[in-house]
Amino acid sequence: MADEKTMAVPDHVAIIMDGNGRWAKKRGLPRTFGHKQGCKVVEQTVEDAARLGIRYLTVYAFSTENWKRSADEVGALMQLFRYYMVRLLDVATKNNVRVRMIGDRRRFPEDIRAGIEKLETETREATGLTFVIAVNYGGRDDIRRAAIRYAEDVREGRREAADSFTEADFGKYLDTAGMPDPDLLIRTSGELRLSNFLLWQCAYSEIVITDVLWPDFNKQVLLSAIEEFNHRNRRYGGV
Ligand code: IPE
Ligand code: IPE
Ligand code: MG
Repeated sequence: MADEKTMAVPDHVAIIMDGNGRWAKKRGLPRTFGHKQGCKVVEQTVEDAARLGIRYLTVYAFSTENWKRSADEVGALMQLFRYYMVRLLDVATKNNVRVRMIGDRRRFPEDIRAGIEKLETETREATGLTFVIAVNYGGRDDIRRAAIRYAEDVREGRREAADSFTEADFGKYLDTAGMPDPDLLIRTSGELRLSNFLLWQCAYSEIVITDVLWPDFNKQVLLSAIEEFNHRNRRYGGV
């Protein structure tokens, strides 16, 4: 069993929380039951990550492609989002957690946008874990919006269009500005793809895929992913 006392904890863990629908289906329940259970697991994972001393935890909650799902499912996810935003403020406050949302929030209804802002503002001074939720997030959309903001800065004379523009400079235009790249990327439910998550930021992340469905995820699964990460040899293109 993974022993948290002897392991190095990655600074930034990112998770593609997948498998809610399959979890529910296995039990003969509607997909939304899986999402509900998935939300509870998010809360627990935030507490676990905070206690383990992880600095950043980023979770993929809703992609730019997830709008393709039925109106019923999208509606249920929005309702859960409303409910858990309130609960999360409590969990964050109790655990010294700073919350931040990435993704294009302009597509959400006004009350959800206001809820996101409240969460971010009220947890801004927390000094423990930074918990990042990706909602209406797409890696390509993140890069596209960053390019638009850069072009605006150039057009309005705030910066020069120059060859000296570095990768780090570009990173400041992304939603993840100021955050380190993920060290460890976990995907649940066995799917071997990125599904448009943090495309720029995961250039050198170590990837761990587990067959566990997101609603069954727990501290032990997190610890064994961290243990596997501890055995990886990160070369970044060197030898
Ligand atoms: C992940 O679970 C949650 C979201 C994408 C919102 P899914 O809903 O994708 O569950 P599966 O993959 O269909 O089992
Ligand atoms: C990725 O899961 C998005 C989230 C976990 C929010 P999906 O279930 O949408 O991914 P695909 O469709 O299997 O690639
Ligand atoms: Mg899925």
